[in-house]
Amino acid sequence: MLKDKILKALNTQLNAELYSAYLYLSMSAFFESTNLRGFANWMKVQAQEEYMHTMKFYDYILEYGSKVQLMPIDGPQTEWDSSLAVFEHVYKHEQKVTGLINDLVDLARSENDHETSNFLQWFVNEQVEEEASADAALQKIKRAENSPDGLFTVDKDLGKRVFTPPAQSKE
Ligand code: FEO
Repeated sequence: MLKDKILKALNTQLNAELYSAYLYLSMSAFFESTNLRGFANWMKVQAQEEYMHTMKFYDYILEYGSKVQLMPIDGPQTEWDSSLAVFEHVYKHEQKVTGLINDLVDLARSENDHETSNFLQWFVNEQVEEEASADAALQKIKRAENSPDGLFTVDKDLGKRVFTPPAQSKE
């Protein structure tokens, strides 16, 4: 069984991952409404990634015979001023999530919970990738910002992203 303090923090992070999925789905719907289908695809894949993160917490809690506690999910933002503003939001959001994961690692260490600390290492590495991929897309959009052709090219590029479930060994 997990310690109460750890369980509460894991359930809170599970909720934060679901919120991330919700936020990116909202961004996907926003791009669909502006006919940027490639951008919408990128966000839909991102939402799938977040659901996968959610399920990792879900499975981990259950694996320890503890109780998953689902909480209400906050309503995400639904409108943005520009494509650039959306991706600036993504980058900022991922930096915030990195902070949450780091706080969780600190808690697990302070509670001498080595298993949870070990479990969270996957997320520590994942957050490096999450921030890098958000920043890469953000930089592409910044470069394309003042040219309609540029935005079209980025849209085509972001349309190629596909969701790849993590390899068994990474889980
Ligand atoms: Fe689940 Fe994008 O961090």
